[in-house]
Amino acid sequence: MSAKTPKNLAVFVSGTGSNFEAMLKEHIPIKLVVADRPCKAIDRAKEVGIPTALIERKNFGTSFDRGLYTQKILEVLQTHGIDLVAMAGFMTILGDSLFTTYDGYILNTHPSLLPLFKGDHAVKDALEARAKETGCTIHIATADLDDGPILAQRSVPILPNDSIETLHERIKIEERKLYPEVLKNILVGNLVLPQTVV
Ligand code: GAR
Repeated sequence: MSAKTPKNLAVFVSGTGSNFEAMLKEHIPIKLVVADRPCKAIDRAKEVGIPTALIERKNFGTSFDRGLYTQKILEVLQTHGIDLVAMAGFMTILGDSLFTTYDGYILNTHPSLLPLFKGDHAVKDALEARAKETGCTIHIATADLDDGPILAQRSVPILPNDSIETLHERIKIEERKLYPEVLKNILVGNLVLPQTVV
């Protein structure tokens, strides 16, 4: 894929979808919502009339055929003419073929100040490390988990009585502002992927 301004955004979700909701609120044009399981976010997409694809990971074998799952995702993206993907709480790790085909055009949000606290327990890990602050990172996703060029970050303090839930919510308040802002900049051509950094 050559450097160009993408137009057709797909959002990948697995859960509550408060980041997706924030994108709706900011009028980010979303062409497709992809989910790996039934969830509130995909129900909400249907409610507002955005095309959806539910590709359930549980249907891809007991040992999960990641290659086949990724191939199915790619087929759906190409059927809908998608040229930009925003993962927003998507909890399935996808195979290399997606990152090769959409090299530089897959974004992710992660609830830590990467490169600190990669992985599925980022909020808990920051608490347990007794860090003074953590935050969120919007980055270009690569085949390596929670890696890839960082586009934007916001920090939040960790308070003495924080639980995983209170801290995660403080992080998500920032994510919900930052992710739509980054997407808006990309879709209007103010932020050129993959080279430019906010
Ligand atoms: C967000 O905090 C996002 O950073 C995190 O899941 C949450 C989704 O919230 N993603 C990951 O942990 C990915 N490893 P939402 O469903 O309310 O948008």
